[in-house]
Amino acid sequence: MTKNRSIYILGIESSCDDTSAAVICNGKVLSNVVANQEIHAKYGGVVPELASRAHQQNIVPVIQQALEQANIGKKDLKAIAFTRGPGLMGSLLVGTSFSKSLSQALNIPLIAVNHMQGHVLAHFIEDENQQKPPFPFLCLTISGGHTQIVKISSYASMEILGETIDDAVGEAFDKSAKILGLPYPGGPFIDKYAKLGNPTAFKFTKPKVDGLNFSFSGLKTGILYFVQKKVAENPDFIKENLHDICASIQATIIDILTDKMEAAVKQTGIKHFAIAGGVSANSGIREALKSFETKYGWTTYIPKFEYTTDNAAMIAIAGYFKFLEADFSTKNVIATARLKVHEN
Ligand code: KG4
Ligand code: ZN
Repeated sequence: MTKNRSIYILGIESSCDDTSAAVICNGKVLSNVVANQEIHAKYGGVVPELASRAHQQNIVPVIQQALEQANIGKKDLKAIAFTRGPGLMGSLLVGTSFSKSLSQALNIPLIAVNHMQGHVLAHFIEDENQQKPPFPFLCLTISGGHTQIVKISSYASMEILGETIDDAVGEAFDKSAKILGLPYPGGPFIDKYAKLGNPTAFKFTKPKVDGLNFSFSGLKTGILYFVQKKVAENPDFIKENLHDICASIQATIIDILTDKMEAAVKQTGIKHFAIAGGVSANSGIREALKSFETKYGWTTYIPKFEYTTDNAAMIAIAGYFKFLEADFSTKNVIATARLKVHEN
């Protein structure tokens, strides 16, 4: 394929605390650079003001690096796709205003992408080792900000079947980790220690929520009270039982998620199930999902690790499908902190 027939799309992601730029060509990733913001760790959570400042510092070098790694120049780009929302307003504004200026300077189309659609569409990145889900399929999108089961009927048509009514599952992981004195973000630490522990050592109450919706705030409170009570009895309780506590928390969270996934398949009759978002990196969730292939005859789709947490390749692929439909934005497009997965 000659360079001329190649559709190079630059993706820019800045919705939360990762600044990312990626170049894809006809659906294949040529580069996917992510600058993580370490600064938030010492505050135990993302500080919005610091996040937007760090995006401003990172955005130019990250884009430069993405172009260099892809071995192309700015003039080769056919369009710029950027995250319009949902996310932190200050963070979104950095990516939005930069993308607008660059598209105007290069005189190429600007494509606004819904971050939640990006997570789902990461499954369509060209990769010989990854199978793409057929339409319609279900996707459990689980991240620090979201927990939802989505029915995907086409690249552009998505419907929320159920979602959290309070905390996101990533928050449940991170807040539980904080109670245990683990660093932020704690999800990967719980995953790591859970592998060494007994998942049935401790019992936590699962919430009762209607339909395909989720709730995690009660679980977090239950874990807090449980730990406080045990530590009052034995100050070394956490240290002596860390692996078992983590394994039990993770098993409860996985149970909550998989109960609703099973219900979603029953309700829709769709047996193609994908997972997306930062928490889909969790080894327990991946194992549980795989086991449903043999147990229930589902076909499951698990993204590559680098496309689970926030990244610009998923924004670029979502932008590529919009490019093929000539679904471009005007220069008046604005960043939007709240945006549902079906909204464009
Ligand atoms: O998608 P993401 O990078 O950012 C948001 O859009 O929120 O997700 C970040 C979340 C954090 O809560 C983090 O603790 C969680 O994903 N996470 C994990 C694992 N890796 C990341 N949670 C559990 N197990 C993991 N292995
Ligand atoms: Zn995300």
